[in-house]
Amino acid sequence: MKNSIKIFSPATVANVACGYDVLGFCIDSIGDEMCVFKTEEKGIRITKIEGCELPYSAEENVTGVSALAMYNALNPDCGFNIEIYKKIKPGSGIGSSAASAVGSVFAMNELLGQPYSKIDLLGFALKGEAIASKSEHADNVAPALFGGFTLVKSISPLQILEIPTPTDLYVTIIHPQIEIKTSESRAILPDNVPLEKAIQQWANVGSLIHALHTSDYDLIKESLTDHIIEPYRSQLIPHFNEVKSEVLRSGALGCSISGSGPSIFALSKGKETALMVESAMRQVYINTKIDFQTYVSKINTEGVKIIK
Ligand code: HSE
Repeated sequence: MKNSIKIFSPATVANVACGYDVLGFCIDSIGDEMCVFKTEEKGIRITKIEGCELPYSAEENVTGVSALAMYNALNPDCGFNIEIYKKIKPGSGIGSSAASAVGSVFAMNELLGQPYSKIDLLGFALKGEAIASKSEHADNVAPALFGGFTLVKSISPLQILEIPTPTDLYVTIIHPQIEIKTSESRAILPDNVPLEKAIQQWANVGSLIHALHTSDYDLIKESLTDHIIEPYRSQLIPHFNEVKSEVLRSGALGCSISGSGPSIFALSKGKETALMVESAMRQVYINTKIDFQTYVSKINTEGVKIIK
């Protein structure tokens, strides 16, 4: 059995417009890397962090909290040193905390000969996600672990449905370099939702799931509308409405906020359209003083993986 491992823990898009807290998908082109080493000394230690300022204490670090949840449940006869190479900026809305939470438990599970299933790992990863966003939502951790599109059927007990990915589906993302904390972006949401809006929303979730199963791109397009969350959160994102209308004009199937923002995502049929959408997004932000980063990616159907 190996004593060290290097893994890639991918970025993810949660909510997917209509599926607040239940839908998500996994990206290919950006993710964190981690090296995890089995040690004789017991316990979990974070020994290196590159890419951003995060606490080294395992109890205060998302990666460490999920690792400790698994470690304490199993109590193995060894310990682990973890090196984190953070590529996804915290507060970007593309699942930074989920990638941190998933990476450590996946790597440790591999080094221990896979004592746990993916659904078990999800339970541990949720503990890490919860300290970052102050809620145990699984719509980033599930696609990071399973890959592709996932639906969180239930948090307690944990139940995840893996949804098929149409082969020509691409995502384009713009990440304006401002930070929006998930906890704050959750706090501005209303406690109650008008029934009329709820009906529109669950019709969209149902039809999006059907469209993904049947690779019906027209129906994907008709389903990618968020009647409930986007009107509140879009106010936190500069130029959101402009980006959205330019992106839809460029041929995207739909466009909305990625997770809790500020990143904005668009789904397209085919890479060519996804690249045109990228250039439309850039065009809006190039004229502002806000730095930004864009990504074009096929949907990653594999999820977290070993790279060495
Ligand atoms: N579903 C969560 C939210 C995802 O929108 O708050 C956070 O990335």
